[in-house]
Amino acid sequence: MAYTTNLSDGRGPDGDPGAGATGIGALRFAVLAATQSGNALLVADMVAERLMLRGARTACVIDEGLQPETVLAESDVLVACVASHGEGDVPDGFLDTYRALADGRPDLSHLRYGLIGLGDRTYTTFCGGAWKVDGLLQELGARRIGPPCTIDASSQPFPDEDALAWLEAWLHGL
Ligand SMILES: Cc1cc2nc3c(=O)[nH]c(=O)nc-3n(C[C@H](O)[C@H](O)[C@H](O)COP(=O)(O)O)c2cc1C
Repeated sequence: MAYTTNLSDGRGPDGDPGAGATGIGALRFAVLAATQSGNALLVADMVAERLMLRGARTACVIDEGLQPETVLAESDVLVACVASHGEGDVPDGFLDTYRALADGRPDLSHLRYGLIGLGDRTYTTFCGGAWKVDGLLQELGARRIGPPCTIDASSQPFPDEDALAWLEAWLHGL
């Protein structure tokens, strides 16, 4: 799903300051959703919507089944929203995409990214899937900006709350 701004003054639909508030108006964002039961997709959609509200040029959600190479090549910044399943693994539906990136080894040295990990602290490998994606992105040359946002489902039933609070602060570090 791709969102493209058509607001020429950089303001959000409710009149919020957009690009002027964060200086992100020239940036093309990709938002990765690596999900099994839907939480990471919900977060990714909310992040993309907020990015457009803040004046991003584009915010394209990379969902299951969409091969990410083209989107990543055409993006300046990635927000990776990654759930953990199994024992600290990436979600099953994301495995093909993960392997395609690991095998294809696209050069992502143009890309900056932020990481949102969705997990549960009752598992021994808290947010292990997100850390795997973090390692792969760095191997491919992408540069993480700031510390990740890790969201614990055992204490936070509304992951979008933590994710959007983190996003607002993170945007200022870009
Ligand atoms: C079978 C199963 C295995 C899980 N394994 C882990 C894990 O190893 N580490 C972790 O931090 N969270 C783990 N979780 C918690 C999920 O990552 C968490 O509920 C997350 O919000 C799910 O996001 P999703 O709906 O996008 O798939 C697991 C959940 C389930 C149901």
